[in-house]
Amino acid sequence: MKKPLRVTITGAAGQIGYALAFRIASGDMLGKDQPVILQLLEIPPAMDALKGVAMELDDCAFPLLQDIICTDDPNVGFKDSNVALLVGARPRGPGMERKDLLEANGKIFGPQGKAINDHASRDVKVLVVGNPANTNALIAQANAPDINPRQFTAMTRLDHNRALAQLAGKTGQHHTAIKGMIIWGNHSATQYPDIAHCTVDGKGAKDLVDEGWYKDDFIPTVQQRGAAIIKARGASSAASAASAAIDHIRDWHLGSNGEWVSMAVPSDGSYDIKEGVIYSFPVICKDGDYEIVQGLDIDDFSRERMDLTDKELREERDGVKDLL
Ligand code: NAD
Ligand code: LMR
Repeated sequence: MKKPLRVTITGAAGQIGYALAFRIASGDMLGKDQPVILQLLEIPPAMDALKGVAMELDDCAFPLLQDIICTDDPNVGFKDSNVALLVGARPRGPGMERKDLLEANGKIFGPQGKAINDHASRDVKVLVVGNPANTNALIAQANAPDINPRQFTAMTRLDHNRALAQLAGKTGQHHTAIKGMIIWGNHSATQYPDIAHCTVDGKGAKDLVDEGWYKDDFIPTVQQRGAAIIKARGASSAASAASAAIDHIRDWHLGSNGEWVSMAVPSDGSYDIKEGVIYSFPVICKDGDYEIVQGLDIDDFSRERMDLTDKELREERDGVKDLL
């Protein structure tokens, strides 16, 4: 049997945490032959609810689940962690933008970055889900100087999956027929869902849809999907967010089979996005690592949108200078 991997979930008693824990314990994220230990981190007022989550996990008798650690101490929660899912944070309500959460949530990610630095496995894979995810990831990264900065990522896979669903609906094809989808930039309303390199059943996506739909319907629908879910459900997306987090880590850990997926990762100058922000790029995952897809042609329309979302990320970063 393989050695168990330790998976930390922060905010494990919250909506997304509740959707995540059971799927991870059943092997959806790290593989059906990979035992796991769940390290569930909450804040003191949520410890009773967390105990209930652990009781339910016990009651599932998952063959892969080796142990459950419930704690409100980040130093315990991140101890030897191989995968850290930073979910615990306040969600936005109707009428808010995700960056409105920066002040309330930003303070969570510095101490957690430090606890990761001091206690996690040196090869820990960190995914930040709590909003505003990209800038929170930057805060965690800045507080973990001993961990390779590339190991800090933020989630735009939900946006990626949303874009697949919209394009599949429009073209009448199944989403598995779509290749080469890209989300650029921030997990916010400035994100740029780009179909310029996309194919649907082998045909160029741009030839299958009219430009008006692409610019005036598809792009805003994907950008505003989180708000639309909040309006419809009265609560922010949870099961779809958990599913996207599982997709993100599964591909990073086990590989994306040559396919492009969107991950917000530290910018390295690719596509003229200067270093210093956690920006969503198309990546290919292989051997437990990711690489930004290089060499794509960027037209003026794309350039403008990629720069706009970059500008927003740098403004968010300037707003939390004291936490970096
Ligand atoms: P929720 O309110 O249901 O749960 C959040 C949980 O985090 C709560 O149980 C709370 O006690 C806990 N928590 C708060 N501070 C904590 C801390 N310092 N340490 C550990 N736990 C802490 O919220 P939710 O619906 O699960 O959403 C969580 C976050 O994920 C929100 O910020 C939301 O906006 C974000 N989100 C991001 C995406 C994305 O695509 N990146 C998608 C959906 C939601
Ligand atoms: C989402 O995209 O569903 C989440 O980021 C929640 C939100 O605030 O939109």
